[in-house]
Amino acid sequence: MLRDSFGRIIKNIRISVTQRCNFRCFYCHREGEENPSYCEMLPEEIERIVRVAASLGINEVKLTGGEPLLRDDIVEIVDRISRIPGINDISMTTNGFFLEDYADDLKRAGLMRVNVSLDTLDPEKFKMITGVDGHESVIRGIIKAVNANLKPVKVNMVILRGINEDEVSSMITFARDNNLILQIIEFERPRIDAVYQRYHIDIADIEDKIKKRAVKTTVRSMHHRRKYTLDDHTEVEFVRPMHNTDFCLHCSRIRLTSDGKLKPCLFKNDNLIDVLGPIRRGVDDNYLKDLFIEAVKRRRPYFYNNNLYLS
Ligand code: 5AD
Ligand code: SF4
Repeated sequence: MLRDSFGRIIKNIRISVTQRCNFRCFYCHREGEENPSYCEMLPEEIERIVRVAASLGINEVKLTGGEPLLRDDIVEIVDRISRIPGINDISMTTNGFFLEDYADDLKRAGLMRVNVSLDTLDPEKFKMITGVDGHESVIRGIIKAVNANLKPVKVNMVILRGINEDEVSSMITFARDNNLILQIIEFERPRIDAVYQRYHIDIADIEDKIKKRAVKTTVRSMHHRRKYTLDDHTEVEFVRPMHNTDFCLHCSRIRLTSDGKLKPCLFKNDNLIDVLGPIRRGVDDNYLKDLFIEAVKRRRPYFYNNNLYLS
């Protein structure tokens, strides 16, 4: 079992399979990857890394990007991961544009659930946010994912000041009508810059309103995320990473960048550990295990002690 020096047990690996994306969302945090890289891991390399992770007690895998469905071997990647003993949860975060074509194959390959980014129900706003005329394709992708029995299908809505903060009720209705969980995400940024100041809103007020309507509240172990069940059974979850000590203290995730580096924290880029290089040089699994152990040693809660940054 992997436990860091703050007592956090690492159960989950979030793997970026590509930095490529067919959207250009202006707010994209690129999963914290600051350096553009065209190097991508092969399916067998991803499988090997996940096998090592599983041998250390990691049992959940989230595939992300960029846009994972841009990889034409994505079904093979899911299939390989799903056969690894010890992995009992495989999910994916996608922009949904190609999901209609892939949902059935992904389900067959062993994908269990999916998160689809959708910030607005207005096609014009959608185009403004993503740079792409793809609203209809994403909606079709979401509906197909539900029909393919990917469960749950979550919609990720990043709240952006002046753009979509007025759409929370319509998104809840959309979620209710289509059997989705709505995940409301606070806009995050590693530093406070002009974009942050313009678009960031503290989503506490939105959460308070939902809390009043809730008949049940659940606190998920990951990040201490709160999930509210409304009286019509719709579920609304909140992701509030910014300056949230609780979020960091309950982070049980390690990341793997698209070019094969272990990344202890979304917000930090100076403590990565290359795994792909050693794999391509021919190291054995014990060597890879030690790289995981070292990466976990480097984990520090980013927001800590009343929001002081820990270096
Ligand atoms: N802040 C919050 N969420 C973001 N995402 C991408 N960039 C940001 C950001 N700056 C979301 C996407 C996607 C998920 C992986 O992260 O909408 O759903
Ligand atoms: Fe970034 Fe996701 Fe938008 Fe692509 S779809 S630009 S990865 S937020």
